[in-house]
Amino acid sequence: MPIKLLKGKKGIIFGALDEKSIAWKTALKCHEAGASLVLTNAPVALRMGEINKLSELCGNAPVIGADVTHLDDLKNLLQESMNHFGGKIDFILHSVGMSMNVRKGHHYTEISYIHNHKTLDISALSLHKVLHTAWSMDAISEWGSVVALTYIAAQRVFPDYNEMADAKALLESVARNFGYHYGVRNKVRVNTVSQSPTRTTAGSGVKGFDGFLTYAEQMSPLGNATADDCANYCVTLFSDLTRYVTMQNLFHDGGFSFTGVTQGVIDKM
Ligand SMILES: NC(=O)c1ccc[n+]([C@@H]2O[C@H](COP(=O)([O-])OP(=O)(O)OC[C@H]3O[C@@H](n4cnc5c(N)ncnc54)[C@H](O)[C@@H]3O)[C@@H](O)[C@H]2O)c1
Repeated sequence: MPIKLLKGKKGIIFGALDEKSIAWKTALKCHEAGASLVLTNAPVALRMGEINKLSELCGNAPVIGADVTHLDDLKNLLQESMNHFGGKIDFILHSVGMSMNVRKGHHYTEISYIHNHKTLDISALSLHKVLHTAWSMDAISEWGSVVALTYIAAQRVFPDYNEMADAKALLESVARNFGYHYGVRNKVRVNTVSQSPTRTTAGSGVKGFDGFLTYAEQMSPLGNATADDCANYCVTLFSDLTRYVTMQNLFHDGGFSFTGVTQGVIDKM
């Protein structure tokens, strides 16, 4: 019997594309933990239809389309969610990322700036847009919790992570800065979770992903953290057991971020 850490809480989950998605796993764990959910993704992603399976698994959670870069979509999403819940929202998972330059195979030194703007808008500024919309509508309850997913390329160079490294650095900065203001006004906390490489649609799009994954596995004392474990961690951050954690970038990576080298890697040299 799962612990009902989120009993009575209401949350919005962005970014469940298919069953590999970190957001998919998080929605399932939040549902198991007793939360009521609204699921959302870009209209183009909803056309795949996969999310309807997730909705069924989550007690027929409503699915509301929203392009995370469009303020009108976000306003509609938050209003419809509050209508559905009959009140404010307790937690939000931002599990959204997309790089046009990675998709097009452009090297970091030769990126298209038109694509770069889109990448930064979808992958980083969107967190500001979600928070700004919620702030303007006063849509998040006191002690509510917002979590966005990030990667350690925000702090260290992983050459093939390309422009997403800049997007993640901006995302983490938005979490810190909005976290300050939202904390002061409504005691809402905002954090980023820096996850191990994980085999998902977005993850696998990065050039050399298999090498990335194997290297991280070798460099992490506990091994790579799975998407299921990431989902569990998010549940704790949405719960009342972590009320004073805010404005943090929290590494969920099996110890990778603080390891200089491991015997496993030395043995391979
Ligand atoms: N997979 C990894 O290795 C890894 C590691 C660390 C962090 N992350 C981060 O985790 C998050 C989730 O990614 P994932 O790995 O589960 O992959 P995923 O491909 O399953 O999820 C990415 C989601 O972003 C959504 N999205 C893209 N553009 C959008 C838009 N305009 N509006 C609304 N939604 C949009 C997609 O539809 C998709 O559901 C991302 O922020 C990613 O950078 C992933």
